[in-house]
Formats: sequence, C-alpha cells, structure tokens
Amino acid sequence: MAYKHDQLEPIDEHHVRGKFASRLGFVLAAVGSAVGLGNIWRFPYVMGENGGAAFVLVYLACVAFVAMPVLLVEFAIGRRGQTSAVSSFRVIAPGRKWWLNGLLGVITAFVILSFYSAVAGWVLNYFVKGVTAGFGDYTADNSATRFLSLIDGVSTPLIYQFLAMLITGLIIFFGIENGIERISKLFMPLLFAILLLLIIRAVTLEGAGAGVAFMFQPDFGDVNLRTVLSALGLAFFSLSVGMGAMITYASYVSKDVHLGKTAVTVAGLDTLVALVAGLAIFPAVFAFNMEPGAGPALIFITLPQIFAQMPLGAIVGPTFFLLIFIAALTSMISILEPIVTYLVDDLNIRRHAATALSVVAVYLAGIPACLGADAGGKLGHIKLPFLGKEFGILDYMAEMSNILLLLGGLVSCLFVLIAWNKRDVLAEVAGTRGNAHSPMLRVWYVLAVTLAPLGIVAILLSSLGLF
Ligand code: TRP
Repeated sequence: MAYKHDQLEPIDEHHVRGKFASRLGFVLAAVGSAVGLGNIWRFPYVMGENGGAAFVLVYLACVAFVAMPVLLVEFAIGRRGQTSAVSSFRVIAPGRKWWLNGLLGVITAFVILSFYSAVAGWVLNYFVKGVTAGFGDYTADNSATRFLSLIDGVSTPLIYQFLAMLITGLIIFFGIENGIERISKLFMPLLFAILLLLIIRAVTLEGAGAGVAFMFQPDFGDVNLRTVLSALGLAFFSLSVGMGAMITYASYVSKDVHLGKTAVTVAGLDTLVALVAGLAIFPAVFAFNMEPGAGPALIFITLPQIFAQMPLGAIVGPTFFLLIFIAALTSMISILEPIVTYLVDDLNIRRHAATALSVVAVYLAGIPACLGADAGGKLGHIKLPFLGKEFGILDYMAEMSNILLLLGGLVSCLFVLIAWNKRDVLAEVAGTRGNAHSPMLRVWYVLAVTLAPLGIVAILLSSLGLF
C-alpha cells in the first residue's frame, strides 16, 4: 500500500506518484528543462543587443551567485516535499502561508507557456519550411516580410502553437519515467550532437573570427543597470528557476541523489549550451556581414538568409530549427508538468484528465499572445503598460514572466532562511549518501540566504524604478 507524504493515509492506485528511474534520467530532464529557447533564441540576441562579451561575463556572475543557488533551493524544497510545488511548501512549513508561492508558480507557468508555445510554434513552422521548401531563396529583401507574414497571420501560427502544445501534452501524458525521462534521455544526447555539428560548420566559415571575438572580447563601456537586469532575468529564465518547475522535478527524485552536484551539473551544461549556441550563430552572422543586434528576429530573419548563402545551408537550416524545437519541447514539458502535478497532487484529478485539461487551458491562455506577437497581428493594436513602457501582448507576457520569476525565486530563498531549519536543509541537499557538512554546501547556504535574495531585491527595486 502506498502512503502520501509520510502521513498514514493510504492512497489509491492512480495516485501512486511516479519517479525518475535513475539519477541520469533526472539530470537529463533538468538539463532538458533548462536548455531551451532561453539559450538558443534569447541568449544570443540579448547578448547581441548588449554588446557581446561584457554581457557574457555579467551573465556568468548572475548564474553562479544567484540563479544556481536558487536552483538548489528549489531542488531541496521539491525533494523534501515529494509533492507538488504548492504542497511542498506546506509539508515543510505546515499551517503557514508559504504555499502561496507555489500557487504563484502555477500562474507564472501560464504566463510563460502563453508566449513560449507561440514562439515554439514559429520554430516548428520554420523547421517544416526548411524541410519542404528550404531557405534557398531567402534574401535581405524578403526574409523579414516572410517572417512577419507568418506571425501576423491567424490560422497558421495558431495551428503550429497548438501542435507544439499537443506534443508537449503527449509526453506529459505518459508520466515521469515513460514520458519525461524517456524523451530527455533520447533528445538531450541528440541535441548535443546536432549542436556540435552546427558549431563546426559555423567556425569553419571564412570570416568567422570576428564573431568569436565579439563573444569573447569584453567592452565594459556597454554595461549598465539594464544590462544587469536583463542578465539576471535571463539567468533565471534559462535555469528554469523561480516558478517551481525544478521543485516539481525534484519531487520525483529519490533520496540518495546529491542535489548539490546535480545543480552544478545542470547549471554548467545550461551555460555551456548558451555560449555554444552563440558560437553556432555569431561566427556565421559576422562571416556574412549581418547585424548581431537584430533582436528577437535574429534566428527567424537573419539566419535563413545565412543558410541560403552558406555551403551545406540546405542541411544546416532545417537541422538548426530541429535543434531549437527539441530544446523548446523539453522545456515546455517542464513548464506544463508543474500545472499537471498540482492538479493531480492537490486537486486529486487523474493524471490523464489533468494533462488534457491543462493543455486546453494553456492553449486558450496563449491565443492572445500568439495574435498579439507583432504590431501587424490581429491583436497587434493592443498595448499593455509595464514599468512605464508599452508592450504588445507577447512581449508583455515575456516582461511579466521576468518579474514573476524573480519574485518566486526571492520568496523561495526567504522560505529557506525563515521557515526551514538549516540542518535539515543541508541534509536534504546532500542526500542520504552525501556529506551534509561539506564546505561547498555551507558556501551555497550563505549565498542562498544572503547574496541571492539581496541581489534579487536590488534588481527588482531598480527595475521598478525605485532607485
Ligand atoms: N529554461 C527554459 C529556456 O531556457 C525555459 C523554461 C523551462 C523555464 N522551464 C522553466 C523558465 C521554468 C522559467 C521557469 O528556454
């Protein structure tokens, strides 16, 4: 008979919680969550807009001192709780209101998926285009028009967004071990292999050196407060922290896994992929004299023109979009799973019904973002104010998610500081076979309860214009 979190309350068959079968499966699923559009789409263009190498250094600092400590905080909460992100807070601090942070995460998941699934749909569309028609006739004159005619449309982007959500739901439907773990074990090695091939192609192009220099020779003249805010927001987004995705994944992990080591592996691989994605893109951008600061459209408008001119471009192009789609898919499952886990663990809905319900709900919530992605779209005229600026719906969701993630991460750090006893925290992180007294863990703890929350507060206040 199975029992729900340590209480002597027997639970019926379909409420037996799933589990990752191996540590490797968990690591790959967490890496799959972390590596996504944030690394391959957002990181390169944000870096391009913020002057390259100097931004990279700021980003690395944000990952090491803030986002990675928060990642470990989430791992610890989830594994201790062994239940949804909402209830995990309750298990550790019964009778207190901390679980509201878990609920905030469920809302954040909706906000993120609304725009993430729209962009993933564009990627899927470009993959299909690349395979069927190729990018051979993409030029400076028509590349932008073609991209805009996709995202300003109604049925095509909505259908592709739906397909992206449907595939995500299908994987979730099969559960932790047979769905998430299996797909991650298959797709992550594939993703690394494809990425390697793409870099080799990019850096062997004539004139690629300027792109490499752009990434690795810093000019600190470009660094300002906005740079730091975008670096920290991106670090949270890229490591999937601040909304309970990693709490949820860790709730399916057995007690003998050393969470500290896992967090370092996940953060390290995620950062490596972000840098390496830059290496697959900027050498080509410079070799063909394109604009590195092209913004969100970099991969959709700039790259197809490069594929059109580059030797082997007919193969490289679709392969590139396949890579991005795989990365996006393994991230989307980690944003959907917390919603499903919440429905199953807290509201006692069966997994299959919960999956169907959340796919439909998330898809409906994503329609405005899809139709308001660009000024020329059906809902493109709608502008929403955010921190003194106006945004279209999709951009508004993206800006909102930055703030929501920082807020969620902040509360989780404070939770560890205030509501959870230090000795228990360290024991949970080390796991049954690790050393809870290691100096590294103590350093982490200090970061997690001091520098990380202080850094987040400073960035939040300054982005709200308060100082
Ligand atoms: N990390 C993913 C990316 O880089 C996106 C993502 C997945 C995410 N799960 C998340 C972001 C949870 C925030 C919270 O694309």
